[in-house]
Amino acid sequence: MPSRIALYPGSFDPPTHGHLSIIQRGLRIFDGLIVAVLQNPAKDALFTVEERVALMREALKNDPRVVVKTFSGLLVKFAEQQKINTILRGLRAVSDFEYEFQMANMNRKLDRSIETLFMMTGEDYFYISSRFVRDVARLGGDVAGLVPPNVLEALSKRFPRT
Ligand code: PNS
Repeated sequence: MPSRIALYPGSFDPPTHGHLSIIQRGLRIFDGLIVAVLQNPAKDALFTVEERVALMREALKNDPRVVVKTFSGLLVKFAEQQKINTILRGLRAVSDFEYEFQMANMNRKLDRSIETLFMMTGEDYFYISSRFVRDVARLGGDVAGLVPPNVLEALSKRFPRT
């Protein structure tokens, strides 16, 4: 029986419980996932791509069903290289929809064989975004419960609370 693998791409700066929830739920549908961490030198990232990969791997506790890789350039090209035609994305709110809709259609225009599958983010996580986590941590707020313990530790080292 062939196995079904999907690509779960993102910036993951940093990984949050929202991402981990989509990964766990995605694994109920797919046999495995490739988490594709965007390597984008132009983007102002809090954590380097190597740090984001390490944080994601640690948070996943070496689940053999998930492989964490980096990619740069077009996502569809990476998908082609990995021989995967399904992209998994989480959808939090209506505000995500327009961007995700454009991206999914652009990706399908670039490669007709690519399908994007959306999972609704769980009700506990719909308000979490990496950007808010970064901002709140930077401003000394508590992000425990929004991110896994290893990410919390990395954030507290980056932004020591007084
Ligand atoms: O976590 P993010 O930042 O919402 O993830 C966005 C991501 C990485 C999926 C998207 O920016 C992406 O695929 N970038 C690669 C460049 C690309 O393929 N662009 C064309 C699609 S519109």
